[in-house]
Formats: sequence, C-alpha cells, structure tokens
Amino acid sequence: MKQGATKYHLLTFGCQMNKYDSERIESVLLDGGFQSVGDLNDADVIVLNTCSIREKAEQKVFSKIGRLAALKKKNGNLLIALGGCMATLRKENIFRRAPSVDILFGPDSFNSLPRLIEDRRVTGERQIDVGFDGGTEWRAPPPSVRPGKVTAWVGIMKGCDNRCTYCVVPDTRGPEVSRTPESILDEVEDLAGRGFKEINLLGQNVNSYGKGLGRGINFPKLLRTVSEVDGIKRIRFITSHPKDLSDELIEVMATVDKVCPWLHLPLQAGSDRILKMMNRKYTAKEYLNKIDKLNAAVPGIAISTDIMVGFPSETEEEFEETLNVMEKARFDALYLFNFSPRPGTPAAGYEKPASREVSQSRFDRALEFHKGIVAEVYGREIGKRVEVLCEGHYSEKTNGCGREMFGKTPENRIVTLFSDNAATGKLLSVDIKSVMGYIFKGEVLEPEN
Ligand code: 5AD
Ligand code: SF4
Repeated sequence: MKQGATKYHLLTFGCQMNKYDSERIESVLLDGGFQSVGDLNDADVIVLNTCSIREKAEQKVFSKIGRLAALKKKNGNLLIALGGCMATLRKENIFRRAPSVDILFGPDSFNSLPRLIEDRRVTGERQIDVGFDGGTEWRAPPPSVRPGKVTAWVGIMKGCDNRCTYCVVPDTRGPEVSRTPESILDEVEDLAGRGFKEINLLGQNVNSYGKGLGRGINFPKLLRTVSEVDGIKRIRFITSHPKDLSDELIEVMATVDKVCPWLHLPLQAGSDRILKMMNRKYTAKEYLNKIDKLNAAVPGIAISTDIMVGFPSETEEEFEETLNVMEKARFDALYLFNFSPRPGTPAAGYEKPASREVSQSRFDRALEFHKGIVAEVYGREIGKRVEVLCEGHYSEKTNGCGREMFGKTPENRIVTLFSDNAATGKLLSVDIKSVMGYIFKGEVLEPEN
C-alpha cells in the first residue's frame, strides 16, 4: 500500500456509458495518486457513479447512501462523492435529501474530482461541480485504466439532442457532442496494443456521430476507419435511434466483416399514437421496414431492443400493438421497463398514468411473450457451429465459482464452455449443444488463433 495515499472505493450504477465513465473516474483518481480499495470500510472517499433513468435507479442510490451514512458515523473523515446523472439532475437537492453527501460532480467534471475532494477537506464546505462542458468537441481524455482484457468500451460521443418526452438524459448529460475521429482512433489503437480484441463504441445516439464536428465524418465512416485497426477483431456499438438508422450504416454492417451482426435498436412501443406522444419520430411500420432491410442485408443479424410499458394513457389495445411488433421483429434480446415519470420531462405530466398493477401486468405479459420468441430463435441455433470470443471465467460474470469459461458470438449471444482450449481472448470455433433461457452451452472444436 502506498503511504499516505487517499483510498477510494467506487460504486457504479446504471448503463454501459456509466461503466465507461467509471473507468474514466478511476483513471483520474489513480493518475492523481489515489489508491483503490476493495473494502468500503478501508476507504477515505466513497465515490458513487449514479443513474437517473428511472425512479428505481435513484432509489437504489439513496438507499446505498443511507447505509454509507452509518459508516460515516464510525469514520468521521470519510467523504461521500456522488457523481454522474443524479448529480446533474438533482443538484443541491441531493444535499437536502442525503446530508451525508459531501461532493456532487457531473459527467463532465471527472477531472475536477481530486480538486473537489481536496477543497472539501481544506474548506470543510460541501463541493458541487455539475456544469456541462460547453465545447463542440468531447475533450475528456480516455481512461488510462482498463479493467477487462478482451472487450472494451470506447466513448465516441456524449449527450443527446433528441427529446423523447419520457427521458432525462438530455438534462443529465447535456447536448450531443462528438469526439474527434483522431482521438477515437488513438484510443482504439491503444486498446489493440494492449491486446483487446473487441471494442464497443458508445453513445446515446451513435447514428448522429459527427454532427457538429464539421469534418465530413459520420458514424458509418467512423466504423470503416476503426475497422482498419489491426488486432481488433470485432466492433459493436450502442445505441442507435431507429429514426437515424441510415442505409449507409446498414451497408457497412453488411460489408465490413469486423462489424458484428448485432444491433440494439430501441423500439419503446408498438403503437403509433404512443410513439408520437413519446416524440420518437417513427411509426411501427417504419421501424419494421428498417428491420426488414437489416435482415435482408445482414442475414442472421440479431436485433435487441428496449421496450417501455405503461406509458401514460396507453390502452390495452395499444399494448397489444407492442406485442404485435415483437411478434414480427423476433427480438433476440429485450430490455423491458415500466414507465417511470422523471422530473422535468413532459411525460411526467401526461394524463392517465397507468397504475402500477396495469403496468406490471403488461410488463409480465411482454416478458412471457418474449420468452416464447427466444425459445424459438435460440432453439434454432442448437447444432450450429459459431465463432465465440472467449471473455474469461463465467464465475467472474456471475460471482459464482468453477472452471467454466464464457464468451460471446458475433450476435452478442452468451455461450458457456468447458475446455482447456477456451483461454481468455481466444476466438474459438464452437458447436452449440444446448440452451437454458438466454445462455447457450457450447463445445469447443479448435482454437482459431
Ligand atoms: N421510464 C422507463 N424507462 C425509461 N427509459 C428511458 N427513460 C425511461 C423512463 N422515464 C428506458 C428506455 C431507454 C432505456 C435506456 O431506458 O427504454 O431506451
Ligand atoms: Fe433518451 Fe431518447 Fe436521447 Fe435515448 S434518444 S437518450 S431515450 S432522449
């Protein structure tokens, strides 16, 4: 242990962007001479990287802070720093609701964290830095610390200029700002040099990448550029907005081998009236047409989606329209949510909110319906030979134990493997033997590299 270094423990809530942000927070702290500790009880600073997307996400954070307040009673010097989306959304109100919080920092203020911690110690005053960096270019340095070995996140843009009526992201993360292609390429080359095989390009709405840079670059062109980096075998990206899914992107998915045949394309709802109320700017038919195009251009493509049920005034028939789109689209994976009214969003004030019971019953039915689709779609995979990129021990993913390994197919499906050949980072040829729920079991044929 370094003598005298401030010890921190970082807790991450929320989406992939937050996981990437946490890598950036860790990098700032470690580069600033801080030291990471695994046990909360050993920390001088507990940093929470938080999420506001739904009420439940915020409740989780508040109840965690409640437990941390007890630790503060034992250790009078302990500081609690709350960062990320809740900090920008709630600002000083967090101090009222959770008085044990010492520091608030937003997604654009990671670099200030060491200074905020120092200032809190020196002045005894609570610190807050939740402003947006108003630039047109994302200047935040990439993380120097990478927890994984095989697959890494790479942020390509931040913020969102869409105004879906239910969503707080434009408020918590500010307007869309793209990173320069040079800086993205540097990060990808660095990752390839460290032995990473797969990158996952991240943004709230990757399809509008390049807007505002004035460089004539767009997302499909960025994909082509990044695919030229030696050593990187697979490229994924999230999230795409259906309204911005261009033919050019479909063409890149169809022709650039390294771009995986997997697309996360949030549907949200199957009723045109609800989609309009959500300000999604597409109809169910337009969405399904895009799916048809994708299936034709990229045979075997897996499409995953987000769906929200219980939007204010959603009728039973309108919910069934969502099931109808699910039936046609045959989603490979589904992230399902009950509508949650968020402060400051138009939908929070919409009439006829669904009761908890109605929303939950639709949630359960949609999930059940999707299970049937998955059983059929995944069942068809049994007996097929697939390529799996081995990511490590399955126990690390599930907090269990054992020597089972796991990896993903290009379609982002999880396969578990028992084999001495299944070493982390290897691309393997695998026969699919069975499936349990969403997890396949495979048999390794031979290592490909
Ligand atoms: N309530 C429920 N789900 C939401 N999402 C975003 N905002 C809300 C909300 N207010 C869901 C959307 C989005 C995913 C990341 O979270 O489905 O695609
Ligand atoms: Fe939220 Fe819509 Fe932007 Fe996605 S596209 S982050 S749902 S406002």
